[in-house]
Amino acid sequence: MARRTKVYEGKAKVLYEGPEPGTLVQYFKDDATAFNAEKRAVIDGKGVLNNRLSEFFMSGLNAIGVPTHFIRRINMREQLIRAVEIIPLEVVVRNVAAGSLSKRLGIEEGTALPRPIVEFYYKDDALGDPLVSEEHVIAFGWASQQDLDDMVQLALRVNDFLSGVMLGVGIKLVDFKIEIGRIWENDFQRLIIADEISPDSCRLWDMRTGEKLDKDVFRRDLGNLADAYTEVAKRLGVLPSNGKVMTRPTLIN
Ligand code: C5P
Repeated sequence: MARRTKVYEGKAKVLYEGPEPGTLVQYFKDDATAFNAEKRAVIDGKGVLNNRLSEFFMSGLNAIGVPTHFIRRINMREQLIRAVEIIPLEVVVRNVAAGSLSKRLGIEEGTALPRPIVEFYYKDDALGDPLVSEEHVIAFGWASQQDLDDMVQLALRVNDFLSGVMLGVGIKLVDFKIEIGRIWENDFQRLIIADEISPDSCRLWDMRTGEKLDKDVFRRDLGNLADAYTEVAKRLGVLPSNGKVMTRPTLIN
C-alpha cells in the first residue's frame, strides 16, 4: 500500500500531501506543549476536539466571507485544507490584558483594553517567537505594507466573529493567535487564515465564573485540559451536551 507523504510535522499537527494539487491533509495530534516546548504532555482526545473546533470556527469564517484554508473535515483527526505559503508571523489580537502583555507591561490580568490590540511575533522557535514591530516586518521582508494592512483587517474580522460567537455561549474571548498564508489565484495573491483556531491558540474565560477554558489550564496546571476543551465544544454545539469525545472508532448503538 502506498504511504502518504509527510510534508511537515509541528508540535501539535502533521501535514500530509493532499489528494489534489494545492491541498494538504492536516492531522491533529494529542500532544500539548507550552513555553516553547519546555513543558510537554499527551492529552487524550485533544486532537479530536481541536479538529472539530477549528472546523467550526473556520467554516463559520468562510461563511461570512473571511477566507480560510479549511475545505472539509475528513475524519476525527484530519481535515482537508488549502496549501498556503505561511507568512512567518504569529498575529495576536487582545481584548483583555493577559499572558505576555500583562507580564511585559505590568498590566493586571483581566484589565479590559480600550480597543483591540494587534501584535506580530516572528515565528522562530530558536528565538522564542519574539514580538516585532511593523518596521521589522517590512525591513526584513517578511511581509509588505499591503500584506500588513490586510493582516490587521483579517485579524480584526476574526476577532469580531470569534468574540460574538463566544459571547453567545457565555465565554469571553480574551485574546487569540492566528497564522496567515498566501495563495495565488492566477497572478494575484490573496491572504487567507491558516493553521488552526482552537482553545490551544485562544484565551477563553467563562463570563460568570472567570474559569479558564483554554491552554492556560495546561500551562498553569489548573486542571484537566480535555475537560476544559470539551466544555467549549459542548457549549458551541460541536459535541452533544452529554458528549464524550471519541478518540478512536467507537460503535454507537
Ligand atoms: O503568551 P501570550 O500572552 O503572548 O499569548 C497571546 C495569545 O496567543 C494566547 O491566546 C496564546 O494562546 C496564543 N499563542 C499561541 N501560540 C504561541 C504564542 C501565543 O497560540 N506560540
